[in-house]
Amino acid sequence: MMSHSQPRESLVETTLPKTVRVVEVGPRDGLQNEPEPVSTPHKLLFIQKLAEAGLKHIEASSFVSPKWVPQLGDAEEIFANLPQQAGVAYSALVPNMKGFERAVASGVRHIAVFTAASETFVQHNMNMSIGASLENFKPIIAAALQENISVRGYISTCFVCPYEGEISRQAVLDVTTRLVELGVEELSVGDTVGAAAPVDVYELVGVLMSCVGLDQLSLHFHDTYGTALANVLAGLEMGVTTFDASAGGLGGCPYAPGASGNLATEDLVYMLGRMGIETGVDLDKLAEASYFIQRTLGRPLPGKGLQRILATKAKAAN
Ligand code: HMG
Ligand code: MG
Repeated sequence: MMSHSQPRESLVETTLPKTVRVVEVGPRDGLQNEPEPVSTPHKLLFIQKLAEAGLKHIEASSFVSPKWVPQLGDAEEIFANLPQQAGVAYSALVPNMKGFERAVASGVRHIAVFTAASETFVQHNMNMSIGASLENFKPIIAAALQENISVRGYISTCFVCPYEGEISRQAVLDVTTRLVELGVEELSVGDTVGAAAPVDVYELVGVLMSCVGLDQLSLHFHDTYGTALANVLAGLEMGVTTFDASAGGLGGCPYAPGASGNLATEDLVYMLGRMGIETGVDLDKLAEASYFIQRTLGRPLPGKGLQRILATKAKAAN
């Protein structure tokens, strides 16, 4: 049977990065958006399968208010029972000091704070202004760094906001600069609506390079218009080596109406493998993880690569 995970030697020499780090956000960004909550044991098995596929950074849950995101109300139970896979970092979103304290009590070693480049989006997502969100994160970031807990910072709506429309490069640069000043170690630049095209990526990464190293930057694409992989290529051309993705293309954002799922991890891993760029992820095992969560949810996931792999397997089994 055809293996889907075979990296291919490229005959064309490029200056693109040779390896890419994939941050798997499916258990968080994906499952936070499901209308029916997934049970804790199913989430844990999903995470275990993702780790077995070779993903080294998995965002496992969020310590946000369960009133706002009930789907992830079991973050404590998740972190108490995570599979201990060597070399795998599990992270969680933290919105405020209460969330940070819950995360620390659960033994979390990698937190992610989150804000946006659009005032209205932060208001909807966090019930506060951008300035207030940054003030709120200041003591959290300081305490995390003190305790050797790594801090990622998400910036949503870096291209287009569902409420305000086009977002200026300057607005993204301002928030990025503040987060870097506060000590955030890795910035994830989000296309929450999934509206960006490669030219936006060239421009924005070019602007952000004035205040953040390429090795500190991750790109987080949603695939609403099918531009996510093209945007990854633009990011690679700019020298970015970390990309967020979600298994099977799970996801969306409750505060970005109409936005579809994240870039599917299978599509990302397939394209990079085909280009001879190492990710360390086994595509067949990854598809098993996505198939598991697809069956749990009882509907086909949007990831194109996943559906192709499943169809090939189903045909071979007949
Ligand atoms: P609020 O309602 O203004 O806060 O929410 P509050 O302080 O008034 O608290 C309200 C209630 O929630 C209180 O309970 C608090 O104790 C409780 P009550 O007194 O009514 O019983 N509470 C908490 N409980 C547990 N853990 C906590 C916590 N905080 C408060 N941490 C808040 C403000 C920020 C908490 C809320 O708006 C929130 O949790 N927002 C999170 C929304 C969210 O998770 N959005 C999705 C993630 S971001 C995303 O997906 C984008 C990303 O993928 C990148 C991209 O694609 O752009 C990252
Ligand atoms: Mg997202």
